[in-house]
Amino acid sequence: MKAQVAVIMGSDSDLETMKETINTLKEFGVSHEVKILSAHRSPALTADFAKRAQKKGVKVIIAAAGGAAHLAGVIASHTTLPVIGVPMDTKALKGIDSLLSTVQMPSGIPVATLAIGKTGAKNAAILATQILALGDRRFKKKLETHKKRLVASVKDKNKKLSL
Ligand code: RP5
Repeated sequence: MKAQVAVIMGSDSDLETMKETINTLKEFGVSHEVKILSAHRSPALTADFAKRAQKKGVKVIIAAAGGAAHLAGVIASHTTLPVIGVPMDTKALKGIDSLLSTVQMPSGIPVATLAIGKTGAKNAAILATQILALGDRRFKKKLETHKKRLVASVKDKNKKLSL
């Protein structure tokens, strides 16, 4: 099956965090591809991927990068597909560098930037599924089940409270 979502990482060092995205896409049954592409180390490959993605059938691109994180923005500059950015946590600046580099896009080129690290990685998969659900009821049903589970988990936490 053709990949509906492309998960792009700046480096293999991002994989551990991005397993949250990959596993969540698997849970929702979303077909996906995973690639390492760097805005700085392999700019031509990155641009080439972004230009071809829509023709290949990709509907949403998730781009994760850390530090001077230009990956999501560069990809967004080459495609009209929605691009979700996931800022990676970093040792030096705790991911604030990645967050600001990803979120502060100039007017005209949006990147839907999520939280730093694993939280953003998981939410990227959910947001991508929500976008796909606009045109596919199967995903809408799965998202409704996901919301019900969240409610159940809060109720469960309340039951376990002993004050
Ligand atoms: C970014 O630089 C990558 O997305 C990664 O988060 C960071 C460090 O990459 P490595 O030096 O570990 O390859 O481009």
